[in-house]
Parts: sequence; C-alpha cells; structure tokens
Amino acid sequence: MSLERRKKIVELAEQYDVLIVEDNPYGEIRYEGTALPAIKSFDRYGRVIHIGSYSKILCPGMRLGWIIAEPELTEKICHLKMTADVQNSTVNMYAVNNFIDMFDLDEHIGTLKAAYREKKNLMIQTMKETFPHSVSFTNPEGGLFTWLTFPENIDSKVVMSRALTEAKIAFVPGEPFFASKVEKNHCRISYSAMSKEKIVEGITKLGKILYDMGL
Ligand SMILES: Cc1ncc(COP(=O)(O)O)c(C=O)c1O
Repeated sequence: MSLERRKKIVELAEQYDVLIVEDNPYGEIRYEGTALPAIKSFDRYGRVIHIGSYSKILCPGMRLGWIIAEPELTEKICHLKMTADVQNSTVNMYAVNNFIDMFDLDEHIGTLKAAYREKKNLMIQTMKETFPHSVSFTNPEGGLFTWLTFPENIDSKVVMSRALTEAKIAFVPGEPFFASKVEKNHCRISYSAMSKEKIVEGITKLGKILYDMGL
C-alpha cells in the first residue's frame, strides 16, 4: 500500500469513526525497494491496531504474535482471546522471549531477507523462462509469495487440480482473497519453504502444464 493510501486510510477512519486493523506479518521481510512507515505511525487518536507475527520471522507455525494498540483496546482484545482459546501456549511465549533476549532478532531477519530474496529471484527467473506469455506474475519487493494471473477464462482451481495430480504442486487459488467482486484467474505461490532445486523443478513442471492447457 502506497504512503498516500496509508495516510488517507487513517484520515477516513477519523472521518467515519472506525478502527483499523493493520495486519502486518510480512512487513519486516522487505528485501527490495523502500520501506514504508506503518499505518500505525499516522495514528493520532488510537484508531489503529497493529498486528505482527513471529510465524514469518522466527518459526513457521509458531502462531504467536503481538499487537500495538491503545491499552484500553489491548485489554479488551486479551479478554476476547482468552474467551476464544484460553490463550497462546505459554511455553511458546517463553521460548520466543528467551530467543529475543539471547539472540539478535534483527540480524536473524537480515539472514531471512537475503535467503528469500535469492529464492524469489530464482522463482521469477524460472517463470520468465518456462511460463507462457499469457500468464503474468508479480515481482514482489518482500514477503513470501508471488501472484500469478491467468487469462480471464481460466479458473485457478482447475489449474491447481491438474498441478496437484500431475506434478504434486500446490498453491493457493486467489478467490478467497477478494472482499467483493471475485476474480477466479489468480493464485498465490510461495517460495519460502522449498529448496532452490525444488523451486526450479516445480515451476518448470507448472510451466509445462500451463502450455499443455493451451495457455
Ligand atoms: C496476512 C496474514 N495475517 C496473519 C497471518 C497469521 O499469522 P500467525 O501465524 O501469527 O497466526 C498470516 C499467515 O499465516 C497472514 O498471511
């Protein structure tokens, strides 16, 4: 989201008297371009609840995060969390707390960024070499995913079904990410967990399936 949109969204929240939840688990993993200030940094009246996660910067599946919000709101959110699932595992909380005390988390994030940058560039390069021209893809400046766009008449769930059965390749069809008007021809592919060899192998196989589908 651009700087202007970030500022504007806070202005709109003030105008319409609503809260903003800034869900930002990938913000720390920017490895290209210019880092932008969080929406929370434009918050003058405590309207923004900023959420971060250790799942993406420390341990996948940790499912432990943090919020930055007004104390009154934080207390209410803690009560809601308690009622929803008692609370996060205290063992995990201790483990993360100790890790942060004992090691340099920023340095660790620096290592992650270098690794993800390399994998992302490899995936994008392989897509350029093996995908039909009718398929476009984003070249992200951070995070763990690239987004593919197929021609409008192609449902990404159909592509996924073939990719799974023919090559054991999984990705996330884009449909559930749309808040209103749904577009079926997008999907999200992750380059975080797979080895570099698997990325090249998987993307090359996917490229072949796309050609076989006549794209
Ligand atoms: C946008 C977004 N928000 C929140 C989460 C959840 O993070 P956590 O693992 O801390 O539950 C994820 C990913 O899993 C995500 O993609």
